[in-house]
Amino acid sequence: MQQFRFNYKTLEDFTADLERFKLELPVSEDLSLLKAPVTVGGKKIPNRLGIQPMEGCDALADGSPGELTFRRYLRFARGGSGLIWFEATAASEAGRGKPTQLYLHEGNVDSFAKLVDQTRQAGLEASGEVPYLVLQLTHAGRYGDARARAGTGSAGRGRSAKTSDHRRRTPSP
Ligand SMILES: Cc1cc2nc3c(=O)[nH]c(=O)nc-3n(C[C@H](O)[C@H](O)[C@H](O)COP(=O)(O)O)c2cc1C
Repeated sequence: MQQFRFNYKTLEDFTADLERFKLELPVSEDLSLLKAPVTVGGKKIPNRLGIQPMEGCDALADGSPGELTFRRYLRFARGGSGLIWFEATAASEAGRGKPTQLYLHEGNVDSFAKLVDQTRQAGLEASGEVPYLVLQLTHAGRYGDARARAGTGSAGRGRSAKTSDHRRRTPSP
């Protein structure tokens, strides 16, 4: 697929490309719609701005959000987005794709609760609205079990590095 770089400075630049590529897309200079609340699946989201899940790879060794994780989400919240979708987070050790991925477990629930509270508070202070928060729970499948691949930790017991490496590289049928 051909890719195309863009860097629009004005609305005219953008509409010129819409014509160039024969794309039909409604365009408006009125941004008030972005501030309007929307209901999705019965959940009210205070505006139309959303943060997509994006892994920062900055969790602490036990999977808790680290200093940079806090900084990122508080900055997202201060930006005023009505929806903040927290990044891929493992819910089991074997499902953790890398040692820096967030990992939620009974031992660190408090650190996640703190992140949620502070994110809500930062959004409220910035825009007068509490953002709607979602946490993406994931399992890395055959790419998981990072400790097993490294040959350390409880998840690695009984598996050789070679076996783990093979599992990681073999494509699924
Ligand atoms: C650094 C980075 C981390 C990402 N992490 C996740 C993730 O944790 N979960 C997910 O579903 N998508 C993840 N994505 C995909 C984004 O959520 C988004 O769907 C993708 O970047 C396409 O949007 P864009 O064209 O605006 O970049 C990630 C993307 C980037 C660039």
